[in-house]
Amino acid sequence: MADTSGTATADTATGTVAHDDAAAGGDGVRRRDFINIAALSAAGVGGAAVIYPLVTQMAPSADVLAESSTDVDVSAIEPGQAIKAVFRKQPLFVRRLTPEEIKAANDTPTDSLRDAESLADRTKEGHGDLLVTMGVCTHLGCVPLGAAEGENQGEFGGYFCPCHGSQFDTAGRIRKGPAPTNLEVPDYEFTSDTTIRVG
Ligand code: FES
Repeated sequence: MADTSGTATADTATGTVAHDDAAAGGDGVRRRDFINIAALSAAGVGGAAVIYPLVTQMAPSADVLAESSTDVDVSAIEPGQAIKAVFRKQPLFVRRLTPEEIKAANDTPTDSLRDAESLADRTKEGHGDLLVTMGVCTHLGCVPLGAAEGENQGEFGGYFCPCHGSQFDTAGRIRKGPAPTNLEVPDYEFTSDTTIRVG
């Protein structure tokens, strides 16, 4: 008489294997599928674990982005002209206003504006003719026209966003259309009479 527990164990093991192999699609197959799936899942997790640090290493940190600045030589910008620069990967408009454009901005009562700011609020003291704004519409982020020569400056002589028709005046203030606020004036300072540092 065979040892019951030993035979039972052996028989059970043998029986199980025999049963699994015989019945393709049975427990054994499912177990092998599970093992394969588990192995793939582990590989997937490992892959993600390897890729994630690479992605995070490639992206500039928030600190780097926050600290980056752009120097712009404004000496060559004549009254009535604007240049496009890039600040933190976004367009930046720097515009030298004519006396007429300054007058048009100052003649507009600020309390009539959607986003009440004067030209003086948006320029540096002693440099009221230099308007520095982001070239990003405050509606949905299109780049407005009006900085390059010959571009449509809209009804108010500043910038015009063709995406949905926002019109900005000579101080870059929203006057008509869906944009909720004026074109953003970024932080900047004059580092010399002819150069500004943005950011
Ligand atoms: S994005 Fe400029 S008007 Fe809509």
